[in-house]
Amino acid sequence: MENLIQTLKQVNWDFSDYNSQRFPLDVNSISWYPATFPPPIPKFLIALLTEPGDVVFDPFGGSGTTVIEAIKQNRPFLYNDLNPFATDTVRNVVGILLESSISPKLLQSVRKRDGALLSGKIERICDEELYDGKNMDTVRKKYPQEMMDRMKSLGLNEELILWYHIDTLNELLRLYELIHADRERGVCSTRKCAFTAILKDVCSQRGHFTYITDNCRPSQLRYYSAISTYLAMLDRLILSIDDFLRQFVVSNRKADLVELINRSAIYCGDSRNLNLVEDLSVDFILTSPPYLCAQDYIKTMRLINLFFPNEGFDRLPSQEIGARAYRKRNGQEVINKFYDDMKAFCGEAERVLKKDKFFCFIIGQGKAKVIDGYDTIGDLSDMVVRDFHFQKIFEVSRNISYKWNRLGGVDHEEIIIFQKKT
Ligand SMILES: C[S@@+](CC[C@H](N)C(=O)[O-])C[C@H]1O[C@@H](n2cnc3c(N)ncnc32)[C@H](O)[C@@H]1O
Repeated sequence: MENLIQTLKQVNWDFSDYNSQRFPLDVNSISWYPATFPPPIPKFLIALLTEPGDVVFDPFGGSGTTVIEAIKQNRPFLYNDLNPFATDTVRNVVGILLESSISPKLLQSVRKRDGALLSGKIERICDEELYDGKNMDTVRKKYPQEMMDRMKSLGLNEELILWYHIDTLNELLRLYELIHADRERGVCSTRKCAFTAILKDVCSQRGHFTYITDNCRPSQLRYYSAISTYLAMLDRLILSIDDFLRQFVVSNRKADLVELINRSAIYCGDSRNLNLVEDLSVDFILTSPPYLCAQDYIKTMRLINLFFPNEGFDRLPSQEIGARAYRKRNGQEVINKFYDDMKAFCGEAERVLKKDKFFCFIIGQGKAKVIDGYDTIGDLSDMVVRDFHFQKIFEVSRNISYKWNRLGGVDHEEIIIFQKKT
């Protein structure tokens, strides 16, 4: 144990040189998601705190960073998240990994086919690169009736016309039809993965992502080419999946990716009640719970919901732990609720984790006014030790102030590791 702690102390956990723009081939940075781990964090912790074959569980799995690093190191994983959009993306990505390991040329063939299918020039409908976008009636006037009818027949929400320039949307419709044209395994998930990954990039709302979360539509609609962005995303996906598979093979010569993934599971559920996960079945819990009042994860998926509606978009935000939406409520009630929710989660963590194994969470101090003066990190850490069979073995603060899009002014977060007592 002493050696382990010494090793943990040697690591510079800031990873300030990590940024998904500089490492665009990380599989889980393909689809944008708020507040993700830099992959080196799960990479180091999994290597240090588990053995090959150990089950690694992330109950607030988000974009699946832990999952990807667990697979790379030949550890079966359990993933859970309340957000159905995040869960769907992770299922898609893991499905693509699986299919690509069986048919190595799958992605290239999708790219080739789509490149050919999309090569014909799509006529521009509107010659203005930029036009006013706030008023539904004014925007609707730009739209030929046949395009409105096409959207209707595809079952798409008319609100889309307030987020995208008409020519961008026209290209998105072409891509959307393409996804639904071919049900072949792997093809559909590859296309959907690239399509959902570009929705934010080609949208006319260029402000901070919380504008989309809060339904602040762009005041002006500007043209961005959805087709070329999509094809570039497919190229990036090909390289990142290829890179991933090579890393997997080189590091785990005898491992079987299909068997590993078949021993793993992805759940869309509430981490306060993880009834699908058996008692004492997990070797390592590594997770980052929401920072108090920092983020509304499900509502950030607004654009994806316009194309692929999920009833959870309206129903589930009330079950999000510590959501940003609570920042205007009574401070003490918000804190009490967060504490109770995290306590329920920690009870589940204790139940599913094997004895002697490690539970690590990474959390920052939310900065909303209603929680001014409340020490989220200290309070949670004390609760885990006081109310459950865990002892704290390591804690380190990591600086995240270098991040250009850091959450609500949060400038550091804490990595805390507990061991389950026998
Ligand atoms: C900080 S993010 C995790 C990001 C993740 N570490 C990654 O690298 O992508 C917190 C996650 O908690 C999820 N979440 C919030 N409330 C939840 C709940 N009650 N049960 C399960 N997940 C929840 C959110 O949807 C979000 O994905």
